[in-house]
Amino acid sequence: MQPETILVTGGAGFIGSNFVLQWLASESSSIINLDKLTYAGNPANLSAVSHDRRYRFLQGDICDRELVAELLITHRPRAIIHFAAESHVDRSIHGPDDFIRTNVNGTFSLLEESRAYWSGLAKKERDSFRFLHVSTDEVYGSLGPDDPAFTERTQYAPNSPYSASKAASDHLVRAYFHTYGLRVLTTNCSNNYGPYQFPEKLVPLVILHAMSGKAIPVYGDGQNVRDWIYVADHCEAIRTVLARGRTGETYNIGGGNEMKNIEVVETICSTLDELRPNDPVVPHKVLIKFVPDRPGHDRRYAMSSAKMESDLGWKPRETFASGIRKTVQWYVDNQPWIENVTSGSYRQWMATQYSM
Ligand code: NAD
Ligand code: DAU
Repeated sequence: MQPETILVTGGAGFIGSNFVLQWLASESSSIINLDKLTYAGNPANLSAVSHDRRYRFLQGDICDRELVAELLITHRPRAIIHFAAESHVDRSIHGPDDFIRTNVNGTFSLLEESRAYWSGLAKKERDSFRFLHVSTDEVYGSLGPDDPAFTERTQYAPNSPYSASKAASDHLVRAYFHTYGLRVLTTNCSNNYGPYQFPEKLVPLVILHAMSGKAIPVYGDGQNVRDWIYVADHCEAIRTVLARGRTGETYNIGGGNEMKNIEVVETICSTLDELRPNDPVVPHKVLIKFVPDRPGHDRRYAMSSAKMESDLGWKPRETFASGIRKTVQWYVDNQPWIENVTSGSYRQWMATQYSM
């Protein structure tokens, strides 16, 4: 085993690429990034480290067990950080197949091959090996306005094909700890925002539409609540759990920023009024358009990060105000990245989902 190598799956996506960049800037170990490069994977997110000798990219599918087995034997990582997934709720409503394939079967393949690799390690290396599974708060379902925030003991109640597939993968990971003793950790995080997020998700979609004078679609009455976390804070939390988390445990990670969707949208619009006063439509908020609701739309998510704080000493650094400003500024400054991701399959998706 090479104590200096970790394997990341889905590292060309939004959170994965932020994680790879942060890891290489802060830690000494090397990273192997296994990513299929679906529509959501973008090697350009990692161009800053493409020549770093500690970084290696491999295009491949986590469902390909032969490939995963060979990769583990060849590179002998001390840990696997599993980000790879189909991640967009609306796409899971249009077509759940890929969500079951990657999120359920893919996680299963990875667990099986990890178990085979891990079983063959010497005792010391077996004990220090970690399989960290990155999951979501959506597995807990929807909260009423006065319900307490989700804790690690909240019962699972997933409502969308996406969240059901993530819940299934969480259960598999749990079972591999209890049945085989695989050294697993699971993190469940709230809504991330920040650089490199594919503009199908609310925050980058609003920024792009507002900058170009297009209607900003708000589902239903805009009163749904999410707990927003800046992506760098999530990545730091994952590094903390990897370093100090107890195997077999799950950790909830939240930003401590519960907001209604309409408040998120209005904050982005007013930030852009300041940064881009010469956009085609200003004030940007006149572009807001209420559109039909997402089927089965969860009303409220709220995360308690109390365990992360008390057991591991982690808490988020950014407030929503500071994080969203950095984020809007990043999209304003990175037009070539936007042009690169808003072609081809992106246009097709927008036409399917939003006929405004
Ligand atoms: P993303 O959609 O931006 O990226 C997913 C990445 O996985 C892409 O690079 C894609 O190419 C890759 N991938 C997909 N299928 C694959 C396969 N079969 N084999 C190999 N690679 C494959 O997702 P994200 O927003 O970065 O989310 C990453 C993880 O974090 C997911 O597991 C997601 O469920 C979880 N999560 C996301 C959020 C959020 O707000 N975005 C919050 C909590 C948890
Ligand atoms: O809570 C964590 C989850 O957050 C992650 O597990 C998912 O991978 C991630 O996609 C995200 O899911 P959401 O469905 O909450 O994120 P999304 O950005 O799609 O939507 C955020 C809220 O905004 C949600 O209430 C739906 C609403 N929305 C979304 C879009 C795309 C709109 O009102 N208009 C839109 O066009």
